[in-house]
Amino acid sequence: MANSKYEYVKSFEVEDEVMLPNIIVVRINNCNICRLSDVHELEKPNDERLLNLMNSCAISVLEEFSDIVFSYGYGDEHSFVFKKSTKFYQRRSSKILSLIVSFFTTLYVTKWKEYFPDKDLQYPPSFESRVISCASSEVVQMYLAWRQIECHESNQYNTCLWMLIKCGKKENDAREALKGTQKQGKHELLFKQFGVNYKNLPSMFRQGSCILKTEVEDIVKYNDSGVPVKRLRKKVILVHSGQIASSSFWNGHTYLCKEVGEFGKSITKLDPDYIKSFQFENKMMLSTWIVVRIDGVHFHRFCDAHQFEKPNDEQALNLMNACASSVLEEFQDIVFSYGVSDEYSFVFKKDSQFYQRHASGIVSVIVSFFSSMYIMKWREHFPKKELKCLPYFDGRAVCYPSTGILKDYLTWRQVDCHINNQYNTCFWMLVKSGMSKRESQEYLKGSQTNQKNELLIQKFGIDYKKLPAMFRLGSSVFWDKEENIIAGKSRKIVVVDCCNIIDESFWDEHATILA
Ligand code: GTP
Ligand code: MG
Repeated sequence: MANSKYEYVKSFEVEDEVMLPNIIVVRINNCNICRLSDVHELEKPNDERLLNLMNSCAISVLEEFSDIVFSYGYGDEHSFVFKKSTKFYQRRSSKILSLIVSFFTTLYVTKWKEYFPDKDLQYPPSFESRVISCASSEVVQMYLAWRQIECHESNQYNTCLWMLIKCGKKENDAREALKGTQKQGKHELLFKQFGVNYKNLPSMFRQGSCILKTEVEDIVKYNDSGVPVKRLRKKVILVHSGQIASSSFWNGHTYLCKEVGEFGKSITKLDPDYIKSFQFENKMMLSTWIVVRIDGVHFHRFCDAHQFEKPNDEQALNLMNACASSVLEEFQDIVFSYGVSDEYSFVFKKDSQFYQRHASGIVSVIVSFFSSMYIMKWREHFPKKELKCLPYFDGRAVCYPSTGILKDYLTWRQVDCHINNQYNTCFWMLVKSGMSKRESQEYLKGSQTNQKNELLIQKFGIDYKKLPAMFRLGSSVFWDKEENIIAGKSRKIVVVDCCNIIDESFWDEHATILA
């Protein structure tokens, strides 16, 4: 399709490929597990059902993405390890961390009922994610050792803390009582005060959970002589181990060794430099407009599976707009957003300190929250359609250094909306009138805007300008003043407006948005 002169804004997108031979690990964790736990009155410190839900989602992630071979999780987190040779989405960091967190989130919201049939999900949960780039299998080993030590320490601490709280101590006093206590001291406290032998607590709480891929032989048929014909099949299994970073555990799984590499002798001490590198995060440039653009992954399949109207499904677009409105209400640093088809761009105010301007945090939380909303609001917009497969989105965050360039970015998206919508309207009219898809494509090749308008009028009696503004112009979502005529007061509300944002008059009229 034709390029527009505004496409130069693409050059502000930075390359974020995780270079070979680095091994990609993606860690996701719940943004606010305390809120989730309080609102749904979950067991503390560990709710077995919630951990089972987390594991079930992680299993589905491994089943969906063949390049992920291992995952380790405890509490509210899971770390996914990719094959060392993966070419998944050209190894682009933002793409990978966002689509994994989005898919995980939609699984989580969908499966919630299965694990909590007695508790409705009260609000859209969201997760953040990041990529940890590991230079070798030895670094993966150190990373896993670190996560399992954290699991152990936090679980031991929280077990003590909640025992003290349950027997009447105020939270602050309980924390005070635990200050400075060592591992042995906590064991003794549990045993002497509460008769709890820590070692007898469920291994899922103490050790976390491993999800891994193995290869199993399947008998597919028997040949004429009755000899079985076997085929290797990948199988995802869940195991618990107290020493996931030990060579005896890891090297015992041949598929992991083949795809990630063997582990050397077991780690006895964590290297602080390694831990520092696991915690490193990129910061986006100060005083620039950050735009997060999310886009449905393989959305054509999702649209086909749910028989969306072609080329525009009004309900589906309304659902996207409803999710975007919720994003603005939830994250007040977003001043404007623009959506078309399966994509949405969210503009953060210039001086935003959201996630300390860490790109992965910003992208993942927005993508995850939007994905959560999409599932939660589905029924409201499609009361007669069951979800047949799960939608998920990827995202990127880009800095635009001036208001002029930001407006060019938004113009680029709206021009793209126009070009695509006009083409798609013609294309689907031709197909609906009996032409094959190939013939319609040939017919439209090289045609200009005017010719397409003519075609619609002449052949189908459609005046393009009269088609719904939402289809032609996309949707803008932003905070606006709502005047209350009766009370004579005004308040700010989030509005959806399908207007021309290329025209300066829009920005003049809403001068406060980008002020
Ligand atoms: P990737 O983004 O590359 O993963 O693939 P994608 O299939 O999502 O394609 P892309 O984002 O380039 O385009 C969005 C696709 O979503 C369109 O090509 C349509 O197939 C589909 N789509 C978006 N909105 C609608 C709609 O309102 N109705 C229908 N029928 N399809 C839509
Ligand atoms: Mg898409």
